[in-house]
Amino acid sequence: METIRNFLVLLLVTAVVAKNIPDKVDELGRLVDPFGPGEYAINHTAYRQALNLFLDTNLDVYAPNATGNFPVIYFITGFGGTVPAEAHTLLLTQMASHGYVVVSVWKLGSPVDSFDPAWFEAAVEFVETRLENSLHNQEGYVSDFHVGYLHSFLSGHSAGTHVAVTQFQQNCLNYQGLILIDAVDGNNPIPENVTLTVITPGQKVNFTVPTLQIVTGLDPVIGVYGLACAPEELSGKRFFDAMTGPTWYVNATAYGHIDLMDPGYTDLNDVLKFCPSDPETPKYDYIQFLVGEIVSFVNGVLDPVGNCALFDNLETSGLVGVNTENEFASNGWQRCSPLQCVLTPSSSPFFSFW
Ligand SMILES: *[C@@H]1O[C@H](CO)[C@@H](O)[C@H](O)[C@H]1NC(C)=O
Ligand SMILES: *[C@@H]1O[C@H](CO)[C@@H](O)[C@H](O)[C@H]1NC(C)=O
Ligand SMILES: *[C@@H]1O[C@H](CO)[C@@H](O)[C@H](O)[C@H]1NC(C)=O
Ligand SMILES: *[C@@H]1O[C@H](CO)[C@@H](O)[C@H](O)[C@H]1NC(C)=O
Ligand SMILES: *[C@@H]1O[C@H](CO)[C@@H](O)[C@H](O)[C@H]1NC(C)=O
Repeated sequence: METIRNFLVLLLVTAVVAKNIPDKVDELGRLVDPFGPGEYAINHTAYRQALNLFLDTNLDVYAPNATGNFPVIYFITGFGGTVPAEAHTLLLTQMASHGYVVVSVWKLGSPVDSFDPAWFEAAVEFVETRLENSLHNQEGYVSDFHVGYLHSFLSGHSAGTHVAVTQFQQNCLNYQGLILIDAVDGNNPIPENVTLTVITPGQKVNFTVPTLQIVTGLDPVIGVYGLACAPEELSGKRFFDAMTGPTWYVNATAYGHIDLMDPGYTDLNDVLKFCPSDPETPKYDYIQFLVGEIVSFVNGVLDPVGNCALFDNLETSGLVGVNTENEFASNGWQRCSPLQCVLTPSSSPFFSFW
């Protein structure tokens, strides 16, 4: 059974490589598949509220110690950035191996504080002004390594996504895309107790940016403690329906809210049953799947003309053996045309720029 499954996965992966030819090759000249390991070895550097660096959040940086100008992907952890990045080393390392500076931002404390955009901007300021020097001088990174922050992407998991949305409501800064994973709105896990939100159902957000939203089938399922990890009214379509740029909605139907975490955490969840999860689904395949979706989205947005075929990966079920339900709202975007982030304040609701 296992052999047959592996064989089918191999067939699927081969089919994907044949269909979308990414323009990246490894050091042996082999094509790099967005759903497989990337071409770079990755180093990890932890910054812990280093106030001497004017930093009051924790940053975990995963980056290639190699020549290049690597785009930045921020990743805000769950519960409003209060989950340590250590829960996500597999996901973040494999993302970075495709040639990005992945910066996980988190801070233990009240998720309510994370609704203040200043919280996250301090981290961005550090990345844009000090990170490259720090990696060169303290970590011995090669001199031709550069933090390509002019091409930045903002991603978040669970309630970390409201931090990302709050950012876009203020300023596009250097962000080119938004990645929402199991997005949850609100400052309280009990829907009736929520007093702060970033999305108002029935209203569009006041920014326009290409968005990838990944959700799971078990997100809205109520667990043994009587709560869903992503209650239906605070997650899923609440975000998708509010977006005004091209938005892909990918639902990994067999997976659960925290299946993207490292095995130690998902094993613990199997015991504690904190978020509903199916112990039979292969979690490592799911992480590879998420990396492939994110890499396809980022490389598509960075070069929508040359890499337009990568968007097909966001609209296809069964990649790496992960079944999905896929939806796409173009919101007026002409496929394969250039993309950018703009603020669309409510005074000009029909502002259009594509
Ligand atoms: C950086 O990563 C490489 C490749 O994984 C590893 O061999 C090396 O020990 C790492 N450097 C440090 C200082 O950890
Ligand atoms: C980065 O590479 C340089 C040159 O090979 C090496 O001296 C330095 O220790 C590496 N840094 C890390 C963090 O591995
Ligand atoms: C939710 O609100 C109820 C009623 O006000 C309160 O008793 C309860 O402690 C609240 N729960 C949380 C987690 O805030
Ligand atoms: C994902 O799809 C499953 C199966 O159709 C559905 O039960 C679930 O509500 C969907 N999840 C979200 C967040 O849309
Ligand atoms: C966008 O909307 C949010 C939430 O309503 C608001 O706080 C923010 O000031 C708005 N931004 C702009 C630039 O109008």
